[in-house]
Amino acid sequence: MKPLVIAVDGPAASGKGTLARRLAKALGLPYLDTGLLYRAVARAVLDAGGNPADPALAASAARALTPAALERTDLRTPEVDRAASMVAQLPEVRAALLDFQRNFAAEHGAVLDGRDIGTVVLPDAPIKLFVTASLAERAKRRWRERKDRGEVATLAEVQAELAERDRADVERTVAPLRPAADAVLLDTTTLDVEATFRAAQAIVRERLAAMNASSLT
Ligand code: C5P
Repeated sequence: MKPLVIAVDGPAASGKGTLARRLAKALGLPYLDTGLLYRAVARAVLDAGGNPADPALAASAARALTPAALERTDLRTPEVDRAASMVAQLPEVRAALLDFQRNFAAEHGAVLDGRDIGTVVLPDAPIKLFVTASLAERAKRRWRERKDRGEVATLAEVQAELAERDRADVERTVAPLRPAADAVLLDTTTLDVEATFRAAQAIVRERLAAMNASSLT
């Protein structure tokens, strides 16, 4: 039997990361936050004093990426948010990161979260979730996270930054952010972390039951 792979996609601050990590734990599967790959590439380009929009530089940083680079603690700064969104536009970077993501999933099965997991990276994943929430709610969540980290930003600034990253993700020509045709939509606008997990668990159980039933017929 093929190991189980679950794709969790959605915009920034939709709750997909927390959900994907928790699903992975509950199912005993490895977890990969694919946003970290783009963040680590962006960080490497910034460290080298380069421009994150430079395809050759960003692609060579993507090819040189090591698992240790994903452990860095400086990947979630506003500067890296912006630079990651820029390197993610580049087809060369996306191509260089594909094998890493596919190999990760193929080894023992996995839960991967990102923007294009269900559409491009793992289009054959048997379970796909597309997690959304309103822009206003996502901005509130991200603003609270930043405040807790001691960063100074207004809610309006955080909302404008998220809207810009959404626009870049949705409008890019390669691997734009959109639900796969067979993804189940999960809107977390009015759900807390626990309720989101329970809703996702119900979806996963239903899909697993359908998969088992079809493998018996
Ligand atoms: O999910 P996170 O906000 O950490 O992702 C950082 C950036 O990487 C996003 O703004 C998005 O543009 C990009 N990304 C992507 N495809 C993925 C994961 C992230 O384009 N699968």
